[in-house]
Amino acid sequence: MTGSTLVVSEIRAETPLIRRIRLSGPQGEALAPLSSGAHLQFMLPGLPERRCYSVVQLTQDEATEQHPHAYWIAVRREEASRGGSVRMHQLQVGDALSMGEPRNEFPLHAPEAGEGATVLIAGGIGITPIASHAAALAAAGRPFVLHYGSRSRDQLAMVGELEALCGPALHLHADDDATRMDLAVLLGHYHPGQHLYICGPKGMIDAAIAAATARGWPKERIHIELFVEAVTQRGDTAFDVELRQSGKVLHVPANQTILEAMEEAGCDPMFDCRRGECGVCQATVLEGIPDHRDYFLSDTERASNTLIQTCISRARSPRLVLDL
Ligand code: FES
Repeated sequence: MTGSTLVVSEIRAETPLIRRIRLSGPQGEALAPLSSGAHLQFMLPGLPERRCYSVVQLTQDEATEQHPHAYWIAVRREEASRGGSVRMHQLQVGDALSMGEPRNEFPLHAPEAGEGATVLIAGGIGITPIASHAAALAAAGRPFVLHYGSRSRDQLAMVGELEALCGPALHLHADDDATRMDLAVLLGHYHPGQHLYICGPKGMIDAAIAAATARGWPKERIHIELFVEAVTQRGDTAFDVELRQSGKVLHVPANQTILEAMEEAGCDPMFDCRRGECGVCQATVLEGIPDHRDYFLSDTERASNTLIQTCISRARSPRLVLDL
């Protein structure tokens, strides 16, 4: 991972679990401009894989956008994670981080003549890129609505700034009161021509896609960013994977992905997002039935059972044979 070094210049406790971290150049120099939806990649000491965090850019004036002097990210502490969020919560002001090239796989669409309000939906820490989109839309004078939900009111982050930024376009939801987000009802207030941006946990994204698709939303107007990498789901079991070309047979336990099993076995698999979105880790299935959990394959490809995203999808059969 080629890139640069950033230094922690400020830390704010947004909620008991969410920290907002300001990152600056070592000499306070201007940083590369980023568009809303961008994320940063870090190699954290002691962790083998890079970790990605979306930039929270609530100020979108031209000077800040073109010559930012800091990036803000927000990190929720997840005890069940693979260590990245815990490490990020241990950071102190003055600590240095090794950063790869910023990427944006969740960009905002270009302005369209007579466009309707863009519908932004965030769940939990998924607010980070969604808040940046709200700021970008507000700065450009483009219409939007923002629905932001969490398990409880005290887990909603940056509420004061979002209220100032969005005004009546902001709708807050908490699972433990009457404002709980019901995606089917919520989407019923909008029409399928509007661009829909969703960022949050997998269950929420799956529910939003299902609700939007049922209401006739075209796929190209549904923009998603999954905020977590593969997670173990209830009922996940172990299976075997044969890599036909290399002659290896790997055992994939319930708490591991095929990609991780390949890495552990000393293979050098291709990957990028590790969230089932980019297709870089795709493999051809020669035998067995995949359990598709990605957002990359088309319905037809999925039904053919001949392709699999090894970073997230699993097996419905006891054994898969891949053309690797
Ligand atoms: S690495 Fe992106 S889909 Fe698997």
